[in-house]
Amino acid sequence: MTGKFITLEGIEGSGKSTSLKDITAILDECSIKYITTKEPGGGPLGSDLRSMLLNKDSKISSEVELLLMMADRKDHIDNLVIPNLKKGIWVLSDRYLDSTYAYQGGGREIDTSVIDRLVDILKLPQPDLTFLFDLPPEAALERAIQRSALDRFESEPIDFHTRIRNAYIQLAKNNKRRFKIIDSSKDFDGVKEQVVKIMSQFLND
Ligand code: TYD
Repeated sequence: MTGKFITLEGIEGSGKSTSLKDITAILDECSIKYITTKEPGGGPLGSDLRSMLLNKDSKISSEVELLLMMADRKDHIDNLVIPNLKKGIWVLSDRYLDSTYAYQGGGREIDTSVIDRLVDILKLPQPDLTFLFDLPPEAALERAIQRSALDRFESEPIDFHTRIRNAYIQLAKNNKRRFKIIDSSKDFDGVKEQVVKIMSQFLND
């Protein structure tokens, strides 16, 4: 038996972390074994790569950024995600591959065929279920500003975040089976209700 691979995606301040707790509560109730992890930075190389990628003083090109994200992901998938799935343990990841299509493809405007090629070469698996937490970037950034100092991505102009949101919506349209869109502009209870509904459908499939 293999575990299920669930990913959470969305722009900055879209409420992924809060919903992660709602999902783990449901898995706990069902006595399903799981681990939670995140990208960038979930694998053994993680903390070094994460600080290079998020530090506002890092001067790196979009291509280098893409390759670092992919290096981080390959390390994470091979050393943490796949070994757990093989043992039947579910993996919940705060961000995964769709973040690269949205941020480096949509945000940085790198041709998505380059990303497709890397996915192929690195043999990166698709998740079983992907939550897309969607809300307008203006509202999301407001939340991110209140939370903490802005990192290298959060400090980008609003257009960058709008391109990311649009790329995510397109990804959801192209991958209807695994993507579920959550309206994150709702209050805590409103978001939770949507997440709970999707998780019960997924568990009953
Ligand atoms: P993080 O502090 O984890 O932000 P968040 O709470 O919004 O997930 O920082 C991760 C940042 O890295 C986030 O701005 C998105 C960006 N990112 C990419 O640009 N490409 C990727 O492939 C991944 C995984 C993340």
